[in-house]
Amino acid sequence: MPGLNFLSGNETADMKQNLTIALSKGRILKDTLPLLEAADIIPAEDIFSSRKLIFDTNHDNIKLVVIRATDVPTYVEHGGADMGVAGKDVLLEYGAKGLYEPLDLDIARCRLMVAGMKDAGEVEGRMTVATKFVNITKEFFARQGRQVDIIKLYGAMELAPIMGLADRIVDIVDTGNTLRANGLVPMEDICYVSSRLVVGKAALKMKHRQIQPIIEQLAAAVDARK
Ligand code: ADP
Ligand code: PRP
Ligand code: MG
Repeated sequence: MPGLNFLSGNETADMKQNLTIALSKGRILKDTLPLLEAADIIPAEDIFSSRKLIFDTNHDNIKLVVIRATDVPTYVEHGGADMGVAGKDVLLEYGAKGLYEPLDLDIARCRLMVAGMKDAGEVEGRMTVATKFVNITKEFFARQGRQVDIIKLYGAMELAPIMGLADRIVDIVDTGNTLRANGLVPMEDICYVSSRLVVGKAALKMKHRQIQPIIEQLAAAVDARK
């Protein structure tokens, strides 16, 4: 693993430091758990039927926290968790500088796209774009020298053009079913998205010995699924 093969002077030889892994609740969780299990990290109880936010595992020093996907980079960057799993869309939108991204977990694969109504023509003048990915959208259009007005939404972006709120949306597209069901079509491709393992800067320094084998076991589990 290039860039990870160093040992900090601060690192203790103790392999039993506490380690917290932040997991995105929602659609990523059920694909994440089998990968963790392959790395021998197993929650002590059923995450899906519990109202708990923090879970013990089969290792007394490893805990899992289950939080909103968009909060994972925040926890990991600020050391509230040592590592985490989050979609590339969330990571790009968050724009974290203090996160290492050592592994593509190859789950929740989809694309970020610009979409609009099937019969929408060219937009005259400034275009209005509805999205929850405000930073990604700004950057995508700015790179092309296109000026857009952005309306921030928190979900159901596909509704915005139907209701006349926006000319376009920027959202996740997987099967395309949601676009089709609402009379929208994909128009421009922004980027490929999958879920990534992220590790905080402090954790990488202080807990490298502990984290490295977990990354390797997760990588092997990802390869085995291909
Ligand atoms: P949220 O409530 O924030 O939308 P989700 O659980 O729906 O969280 O999505 C978590 C992550 O899964 C997203 O950040 C994205 O990377 C990926 N994702 C979202 N929608 C889809 C989809 N329809 N198909 C595949 N992956 C998706
Ligand atoms: C996601 C995304 C799209 C849809 C795309 O929504 O925001 O609406 O999935 O998938 P498709 O191309 O296979 O139809 P999600 O179900 O996560 O709803 P939410 O994030 O708005 O709550
Ligand atoms: Mg969603």
